[in-house]
Amino acid sequence: MSTTDTIAAEDAVLAQTYAPLPVVLTSGSGAWVRDVEGREYLDALAGYSALNFGHGHPELLAAAEEQLHRLTLTSRAFRNDRLAEFAGRLARLCGKERVLPMNTGAEAVETAIKVARKWGYTRRGVPDGQARIIAAENNFHGRTTTIVGFSTDPATRSGFGPYDGGFDVVPYGSAAAVEAAITPTTVAVLLEPIQGEAGVVLPPPGYLAQVREICDRHGLLLLADEIQSGLGRTGHTFACDADDVVPDVYILGKALGGGIVPVSAVVADHAVLGVLGVGEHGSTFGGNPLAAAVGSAVVRLLEPGDIQEHVRSLSPVLEEGLARLAPLGVRSHRVRGLWAGIDLDPRVASGRRLCERLLEHGVLAKDTHGSTIRLAPPLLVTEEELHFLLARLEAALADLG
Ligand SMILES: Cc1ncc(COP(=O)(O)O)c(C=O)c1O
Repeated sequence: MSTTDTIAAEDAVLAQTYAPLPVVLTSGSGAWVRDVEGREYLDALAGYSALNFGHGHPELLAAAEEQLHRLTLTSRAFRNDRLAEFAGRLARLCGKERVLPMNTGAEAVETAIKVARKWGYTRRGVPDGQARIIAAENNFHGRTTTIVGFSTDPATRSGFGPYDGGFDVVPYGSAAAVEAAITPTTVAVLLEPIQGEAGVVLPPPGYLAQVREICDRHGLLLLADEIQSGLGRTGHTFACDADDVVPDVYILGKALGGGIVPVSAVVADHAVLGVLGVGEHGSTFGGNPLAAAVGSAVVRLLEPGDIQEHVRSLSPVLEEGLARLAPLGVRSHRVRGLWAGIDLDPRVASGRRLCERLLEHGVLAKDTHGSTIRLAPPLLVTEEELHFLLARLEAALADLG
């Protein structure tokens, strides 16, 4: 089917919760994807970082293929012979003791919220039903009803109440605001170390370390949502590493499934995850052998550190390339590793308009809010591919100028 026919066929039957760019993809390899008309594009979104290792990474495909033919699902009613390796490797990567495997990012965030509340009741003596968690303005932690209840984005939140409560939302970047929001029943602080959906908003220097120190002083858990920022994206295994901060709980997703299967996890020490007992949490698909095989292969890719090193070595190319675009209407930009938020002068174009233009120039990217776009190419992108991306961005901006 052609692009036009496929779009019409989709729109006739799908709930209209997305407004995708008008491109219909049919295959992918590395940083590149191909559409139904045979056109090629550099994928500069990489599934919102779920495709950190690109499309069809040979080691991830091999792990999935081998497992597909052996055993794909057991449920946790039975054990499988892949989960221990996955959990062991992931725990070691995080420097923690225990792993609770789930599937989607939002599920992992929900899991961390449950863990923090139960920890507060059982370890801190908070009266039952009164635990509070501090979160940040402009957060994005997923789409479930509890999570959208503490979103500050009206499109994400409005119309889906009544909200669960139990969250105090403070400005991102102010450690003083975190401290001021602490009450006797506060149990945790939940943060994205870098706010992805908000437009790759970086923490002010020292912020994460100050929040860590506040959590230690007040006996609170620090929950780091590294679903988008983690697993190599920033040139570090975790975004928190750049600030020498170790959270109590890592919340992981996206790239953990290698862009093949949804895999998420909550990783913490036994003193924290041990608050959940048998029957208190679970998921039919969480920890399935296919997910575990792919997840293990993902962790194996990250263990040596050379992917993180590659990202760090290319980051200045992205930074310098974007800095040169100021005269074409780029008001500001933020880069960490191979992750960039670009704010356009709204008089030049909306983020959506630029992404449509980039599509015509053979690059896939996604706007976030208004005039901000985000770039997150696969981490194994070459320097040449990065120059291609920057040149096409320059051409697309020149068209709009
Ligand atoms: C930081 C963060 N947390 C949670 C989520 C939700 O993940 P999922 O869409 O897999 O539920 C996202 C998705 O974009 C995210 O960026």
